Amino acid sequence: MNYQVIEFERKGNIALVSINRPDKMNALNNQVMEELKDVFTHIKNDDEITVAVITGKGEKAFVAGADIAELNSLNVLSGKEFTEKGQEVFNLIEHLGKPVIAAVNGYALGGGCELALACHIRLASVNAKFGQPEVNLGVIPGYGGTQRLTRLINSGRALEMILTADMVDAEEALRLGLVNKVYPSDVLMEKAFAMAEKINSKGQIAVNLSLKAVMSSGELSEKEGLNLEASLFAVCCGSEDFKEGTKAFLEKRKPVFIGK
Ligand code: COA
Repeated sequence: MNYQVIEFERKGNIALVSINRPDKMNALNNQVMEELKDVFTHIKNDDEITVAVITGKGEKAFVAGADIAELNSLNVLSGKEFTEKGQEVFNLIEHLGKPVIAAVNGYALGGGCELALACHIRLASVNAKFGQPEVNLGVIPGYGGTQRLTRLINSGRALEMILTADMVDAEEALRLGLVNKVYPSDVLMEKAFAMAEKINSKGQIAVNLSLKAVMSSGELSEKEGLNLEASLFAVCCGSEDFKEGTKAFLEKRKPVFIGK
């Protein structure tokens, strides 16, 4: 696909996806969603890519939400399709099978906050602002915000954000557990790549199975989750990377992982 409103770059094993509508605060119109679906399908299927980073172009916005010009024409039928299509794209990201880091470089509102929530790790610049302002438009979050925000920061805090539509700045987002780290704007991407590189340097079977176990925890009882953990631990024990990782430790050298 020839991308018009996103950019896709590869830096070694790391993919960088940038939403590229800075004049519209990187708002998610239908074309952005189609291109995101295509690029993340590609990232999922490309075994050479181990980690992805997503950000927004420009200095003001990560993503300022779904495109309100497109929202305006929705009715009951098309509204359901709209939210299901968007949820499908964000579910693809959440269940990509490899880590996705959101580098939130400004406004992350509505669908932008929900996009960050679908990622596995959120890093923010000091000027980042998070919000679910949908009630200002007479609608509710539709790309997963009511569910993922609630699971991440608890229902009282999620409801405060959703019902008041108030924005939360980066420091407050850190306090709420909405983001992992906050950095000066000019080093955000460097820090996101450093984290991606660090993850890329580990045994990829262990990375991906850790992700699978953690991401399954919300859907399983503790007993089922522990059973899954035991099974995935056993899978790791059968891998060459496990032999190499343990052997390298005992030989006091750095492991050379091969992802098998
Ligand atoms: N959908 C469509 N266009 C949007 C948009 C969105 N979600 N967010 C911003 N834009 C557009 C503006 O309409 C404007 O376009 P124009 O220059 O053609 O008039 C451009 O982006 C710049 O936005 P502007 O509002 O002038 O910038 P600002 O710095 O004054 O304010 C925001 C920035 C993000 C606070 C403000 O744009 C905003 O509140 N956006 C909507 C956020 C929202 O409700 N998102 C949830 C959608 S479900």
